[in-house]
Amino acid sequence: MSLNVTFADRLTKMPPYLFAAIDEMKAEAKRAGKDVINLGVGDPDLPTPPHIIKRLQETATDPANHQYPSYTGMMDFRKSMAAYYKRTRNVELDASKQVLTLIGSKEGVGHIPLAFINPGDTVLVPDPGYPVYGAGTTFANGEQYLMPLLKENGFLPDLDAIPSDVASKAKLMFINYPNNPTAACCDMSFFSKVVDFAKEYNIIVVHDAAYADVTFDGYHAPSFLETPGALDVGIELYSLSKTYNMTGWRIAAALGNADIVSGLGKVKTNLDSGAFQPIQYAGMTALDSGQECVTENNRIYEERRDILVEGLQRLGWNVEKPKATFYIWIEIPKSITSTDMTALLIKESAIVTTPGVGFGKHGEGYIRMTVTTSKDRLIEAVERMAKVSV
Ligand SMILES: Cc1ncc(COP(=O)(O)O)c(C=O)c1O
Repeated sequence: MSLNVTFADRLTKMPPYLFAAIDEMKAEAKRAGKDVINLGVGDPDLPTPPHIIKRLQETATDPANHQYPSYTGMMDFRKSMAAYYKRTRNVELDASKQVLTLIGSKEGVGHIPLAFINPGDTVLVPDPGYPVYGAGTTFANGEQYLMPLLKENGFLPDLDAIPSDVASKAKLMFINYPNNPTAACCDMSFFSKVVDFAKEYNIIVVHDAAYADVTFDGYHAPSFLETPGALDVGIELYSLSKTYNMTGWRIAAALGNADIVSGLGKVKTNLDSGAFQPIQYAGMTALDSGQECVTENNRIYEERRDILVEGLQRLGWNVEKPKATFYIWIEIPKSITSTDMTALLIKESAIVTTPGVGFGKHGEGYIRMTVTTSKDRLIEAVERMAKVSV
């Protein structure tokens, strides 16, 4: 007799997988022999630059790199990260206490609530937002308080709208600029408000900077850590995934307040055994070398962004050119839901997009497209969209 296997409440509390129906429609379109254009995935199509791969190859043959790495990360990688922050954001960090290697920033997002959230504690989570903020909170038995990101507020959370009894109970807050999925950016004045708010209510701030260096038109995204007082209240998660086309490598860092970094480190010490050293060496090469590869990536994304956004605008869609990220956040007519719009685009034009509601209820009214696809495919996508009747 086989076991009666039941999932723990924390798993059954996970929201239903909204993308399952889309995946099925995508598979159906492929089965029907349609030429599917996938504008749904946020994963660079461009390869990791050769000098980074070369460093992995060289270091992977050294037996010293085959053993368990340090839990907190190699000191040299953490120093490279600190030097990168000094060089690009003028932020001084002590690599030994204020920088921790992560196995991707998703790992940091998922683990940080385990370090600071007791059952029932409140976590402030942006809506729409990267789904792992909510998942990490639920796994720690915390309660999410959703901060709507609305167009009229430039897709920034309105901190004044958070009731003071909620703010008093909140232990942790996630923010993310440049933002997924809205592609919105923020300036230092928003970060200053976050610092004041966090100090007033004693809230740990986790700024997810996964797209900090995927920027266009000369825009330079500020670090949360540049803000006066930020090191008293928070950390930033920096990822090499998007900057260097390294999503598969799993390498990132948590940087900032030493106590918060050490809490996250304690969780990691108990749950994982650190990042493979050759990947950290490759990460050092990425951070320490000239950044021409990043400039080139961004030039390619910018060109694609212009093709897609200008094309959609010509067709009458309500969409603006983002200054950062490879996402395009598109307002859809009020007469159709984002899920129905996504289904319609797959059926009528074999274009895969992501419904805004998949990122939270305040994402309704939007769909997200990515520019991690070639120029030709984006031109083709716009041509197909011209024939879609909404
Ligand atoms: C906002 C945001 N944060 C974090 C991540 C995770 O990135 P990684 O774990 O590859 O560093 C993603 C990936 O899509 C993301 O969109």
